[in-house]
Amino acid sequence: MKLRCIECGREYPPEDTRTGCDCGGLLEVELEIPPVSREMFDARLGMLDHPLRSGVWRYRELMPAFPDDAIVSKPEGNTNLYHDQRLSDFAGTEVWFKHEGENPTGSFKDRGMTVGVSHARWTGATMVACASTGNTSASVAAYAATAGIPSVVFIPEGKISAAKLGQTIAYGTTIIQVRGDFDAAMRMVREATSRYGIYLLNSLNPFRLEGQKSIVLESLQQLRWQVPDWIVIPGGNLGNTSALGKALREAVAAGLIDEMPRIAVSQAAGAAPFYRAWQTGFEAYEPVAAETIASAIRIGDPVNYTKARRAILDTEGTVTAVDDDAIMAAKAMVDRVGIGCEPASAAGLAGIRRLVTEGVIQPGERVLTYLTGHLLKDTEASADYYITRGGAYPTVIDPTLEALDRAIADLL
Ligand code: F0G
Repeated sequence: MKLRCIECGREYPPEDTRTGCDCGGLLEVELEIPPVSREMFDARLGMLDHPLRSGVWRYRELMPAFPDDAIVSKPEGNTNLYHDQRLSDFAGTEVWFKHEGENPTGSFKDRGMTVGVSHARWTGATMVACASTGNTSASVAAYAATAGIPSVVFIPEGKISAAKLGQTIAYGTTIIQVRGDFDAAMRMVREATSRYGIYLLNSLNPFRLEGQKSIVLESLQQLRWQVPDWIVIPGGNLGNTSALGKALREAVAAGLIDEMPRIAVSQAAGAAPFYRAWQTGFEAYEPVAAETIASAIRIGDPVNYTKARRAILDTEGTVTAVDDDAIMAAKAMVDRVGIGCEPASAAGLAGIRRLVTEGVIQPGERVLTYLTGHLLKDTEASADYYITRGGAYPTVIDPTLEALDRAIADLL
C-alpha cells in the first residue's frame, strides 16, 4: 500500500498524513489487491464479528490494510437497496436506490470515516478536523468520539440544517462557524490542518475515499453482481464520484465485474461548477458562488474535480444539473413511497429523470442511484416544502368526538 499523486506520479508512504502532493496534485491510495471472488464476499454476508460485519470492511482486500485493532467501525454499511415501481415510472426507467441514509450517523460519510479515522488512529493523530455542510461534520464527530480522538469541525455559519448542527454538537466536537460559505470553511480547515498538523478528514483525504468505494461494491453484491447500465449520483465536493470511479476500475481489474457501468453526476443547478466544466468538454473550470435548497451540496469549488473528471471520462459518463423544484419534486416522490431522503439525495433521481427525457438514458436501461442522506437530516426543507408550499397543514382538533367525526369525515 502506498500513496501516489494522480498528476505527477510521485509516491509517499501510507503512514504519511499529507492530503496533497508537493506538486499540488491529489493523492490516491494504491493497493496491492490479492485474488478475490464474488463467492468470497458472498460468504461473509451476515457475519457478526469485527471488522468483517461492516459493509465497508467486508471488502477488506479492496480496503487499506490496517490491523484489526486500529479499525474504528460502528459498524457502517449494510444499507438497503430499494426498488419501487412508482419511482421507476417517475424516472422513466428502472431505478434501484441504495439508501446511504441508513448508516450510523445518517449519511454515506460513515463509510469513508471508518477508513479515515482508522488511518488517523494508526498514524497516531492527536486531533482530527473537517469542513462540512453538515453530514461530514456529524460523521467526523461521531467516529472521533468512538476513537477517543478530539475533533474540530468548520461549518459555514447559518448554512447547515438545524438537525445536522444539533447532531454534530451532540457527539461532543468543537465547532468553528465560519462567516462565509462551505468553500470558505474548506479553505480555513486546509489552513488549520497544514499550520497546526491536525489530521484532515475531508474527501481530499485519499483514505476516506477508499471507504466510500464500498457503496458501489455493496450495491453490486446486492444486485447479485449484475452491472447496471448507469450509476447516477448527486455531486457536491465530488468525493463520492471519485471513489465510485476508483471502485469500478478496481472491481474490473479484480474480476468482480466484466464491464463498467456509465457514471452520471447530477448537481444542483445553483451549485454546478462540474456541470459547467463538462459543458466545455472539461476545457474550462470556474468555481461558482453556490446557492441551492439542497444545502448538503451547496458547494462552488469542489476539491476533487480532477479525480471526478477522470471517473466521467473513464466510464463514458455524463454530468447534468437540476433546479431546486426538480430536486424537491423527486424528493417528494422518494418520501411518499415510504423511503425518504434529504434534498441533496434526490438530485440523483431528478437527474435520471432529466437524462431520460433528453434521451441520454434510454427507457429500460437499469440505473442505480445513491440516496446519500436520511430524511431526518433536513426537516426544515421538508416542512417548508410540504407545509408552506404544498399546503399540507396538519389538522388541529379539540379532543372531542364531534371534532374527531368532522376531521375523519373529510378523509373518507
Ligand atoms: N449528498 C449528501 C447528503 C451530502 O452530504 C453530500 C456532501 C453529497 C451528497 C455530495 O457528495 O461531496 O462526495 O460530491 N456533503 C459534504 C458534507 C460536503 O460536508 O457533509 P460529494
